[in-house]
Amino acid sequence: MGCGNGGKLAELVREGAVASAGVDIGGNFITAPPPGVELIRGDLSNPDSLPELRGRTFDRILFLQSFGYAKDPVHTLRAARAMLNQDGFILLTRTQPIRYALERAEQNGTTLGEEYFAKADYTYRTGWNEHIALTKRTYTMSDLLNVFSTAGMWIETAIEPQLAEEAARRYPHKRAWMNKYLGILIFKLRPLASH
Ligand SMILES: C[S@@+](CC[C@H](N)C(=O)[O-])C[C@H]1O[C@@H](n2cnc3c(N)ncnc32)[C@H](O)[C@@H]1O
Repeated sequence: MGCGNGGKLAELVREGAVASAGVDIGGNFITAPPPGVELIRGDLSNPDSLPELRGRTFDRILFLQSFGYAKDPVHTLRAARAMLNQDGFILLTRTQPIRYALERAEQNGTTLGEEYFAKADYTYRTGWNEHIALTKRTYTMSDLLNVFSTAGMWIETAIEPQLAEEAARRYPHKRAWMNKYLGILIFKLRPLASH
């Protein structure tokens, strides 16, 4: 869900994943996806109303750095949950909310806590195009965890990936960035039986 150009999905299929579907609103897909990769232009906010996915179920549903674009995150996660096969799971990654709070604190001359707990949406100019401004919803760790439980999911595993020592030595700017902004969170989510 929010698969970008579908390149990562193609890589997963080349490494043995079975028939896969990728959804992205951009529709800017790789031109020759390998057999077994279907790329669909659509909104991940309502996976249940995408005609191409109607009636289908999946072993894994991935939201890699895309969940933040869901209009109603609980609805999206519930709809994805309903598309899971028996024993299926959702893999979801999200940027550490502390990173955004720290960036805003630096920009606004405020404190980490003020920005971390701020409720209002915020708008910023992207680094890659000065004419484009993006608006983001703020979120805290508890907001994120509460979305999972409200949608009927439990966290089987959570990971905060770090650079391996060798990579950190080779890419010192990445190490410095990770040391400051912490990186992303990875969650493996499973449906709660009681929902
Ligand atoms: C940060 S990129 C991540 C892409 C890919 N998952 C990856 O890991 O390389 C976020 C993607 O979400 C897509 N996106 C944003 N809003 C969306 C929406 N409402 N429905 C579907 N895709 C969306 C964007 O087009 C973009 O490709």
